[in-house]
Amino acid sequence: MPEGSEPLLEVHDLVVRYGAATALDGVDLAVGRAEMVALVGPNGAGKTTLLDTVSGLVAPAAGRIELRGRLAQVPEGRRLFPEMTVEDNLRLGAWRVRDRRVGPVYELFPHLVELRRRKAGSLSCGEQQMVAVGRALMGQPDLLAVDELSLGLAPQIVDTLAEHLQDLNRRSGMAILLVEQNARLALDICSRAYVIEAGRIALSGPSEQLRSSPEVQAAYLGGAYEE
Ligand SMILES: Nc1ncnc2c1ncn2[C@@H]1O[C@H](COP(=O)(O)OP(=O)(O)OP(=O)(O)O)[C@@H](O)[C@H]1O
Ligand SMILES: [Mg+2]
Repeated sequence: MPEGSEPLLEVHDLVVRYGAATALDGVDLAVGRAEMVALVGPNGAGKTTLLDTVSGLVAPAAGRIELRGRLAQVPEGRRLFPEMTVEDNLRLGAWRVRDRRVGPVYELFPHLVELRRRKAGSLSCGEQQMVAVGRALMGQPDLLAVDELSLGLAPQIVDTLAEHLQDLNRRSGMAILLVEQNARLALDICSRAYVIEAGRIALSGPSEQLRSSPEVQAAYLGGAYEE
């Protein structure tokens, strides 16, 4: 984290159990204001559990979470209400805030304007992800947690969405915690990253440093990193 900045999110020694199974086993993580941080790791490592615990959906067995701002999450699999219109799905994201205008989201994703009256379930996966990101933005978060941005999407759409996230981060200083299967993408757009394996942080540091780590290259980048 950049020195001197007060962290927006601090997670200390977090332990989460599902029954007898330990999903998170002493996780430490921090996200600074206006930072873009990646969380990568294999299936079942505990990435969604970490986001869900920070969001308050899952109760920790031990540890401490300090969140100094508003969080909104783009959940894994998007979780839109398929029978509701795009616009009604967007409005649901504003449940905690006074300002429920959808205009800013349409400015960001102009394509959604023509889809506003469509049922969310009838949209393509990429369009649904735009709605899911838009819905989270309606909550005017200081920290946007995105669980699997690229899940099931064509590479070109992923690139477009990733550019939008970077742009939001640069323009409004919104911090982003990005959970991604595509480690290459995550390390490209985030300045720092954590690698989580079996409920523990295995590695963390500046993305540049992780990109050149042989461990990360072998496990997550499919060999040597190419510019
Ligand atoms: N509700 C639940 N009840 C019991 N076990 C669970 C529950 N949710 C997750 N787990 C288990 O906790 C572990 C971590 O799961 P989690 O979904 O956090 O992993 P993940 O890193 O998000 O994986 P993926 O990349 O597949 O999304 C896994 O072993 C999973 O089976
Ligand atoms: Mg997950």
